[in-house]
Amino acid sequence: MIPSSAGVLSDLERVLIDSTAIQLRVAQLAHQIHRDLEGKPLGVVALLDGSLFFVADLLRHLDIPIQLHTLSVSSYHGETTSSGRIELAEKFPFHLQTENILLIDDILDTGLTLSSVRERLIREFQPEVLRTLVLLNKQARRIHPIQADYVGFEIEDEFVVGYGMDYQGQYRHLPCIGILNPSKNALSSIPS
Ligand code: XMP
Repeated sequence: MIPSSAGVLSDLERVLIDSTAIQLRVAQLAHQIHRDLEGKPLGVVALLDGSLFFVADLLRHLDIPIQLHTLSVSSYHGETTSSGRIELAEKFPFHLQTENILLIDDILDTGLTLSSVRERLIREFQPEVLRTLVLLNKQARRIHPIQADYVGFEIEDEFVVGYGMDYQGQYRHLPCIGILNPSKNALSSIPS
């Protein structure tokens, strides 16, 4: 049984990107990354929880040696706008042994998360190459000057759920990405 329009999908006001489009784009991104890396080993740092499904699908397309590490980073804390703060430990809880690092997040929003982690990875591991990959780019909300090297989809400034992205821990398991019905989003009437 999978999420259906009669079940949890009915909490969506609309589907923004369906599962077929997501899977097609994920395969294209993997192909592009494989080509750019020329088969070299890759250290992947995935920012959780939002990139959970994206990373799982993407990496299974890559036939190269991969050292995968995850980091739990959040700037949203159960709300629908960024708190403007992220908490990062003094040192990363892993060591990367590759010259090529790929930093993956679900959404590039204000840019705080990706730019902070990217800077720290460069400082700590001094890789030859560090590339960034996000599934979604909300260009309109950028505050910190960073562009991802690889972007799945450009989206407008709307709060999205599904395919790893949540509202208060819910909806991550949806196979598509969508906009929540305002009646299901307690904070939708609070201006950001
Ligand atoms: P910043 O502002 O640091 O934010 O670029 C990146 C993080 O914010 C989260 N984010 C969202 N999460 N729906 C979500 O479920 C959204 O529409 C959304 N926009 C941003 C996300 O965790 C990302 O890593």
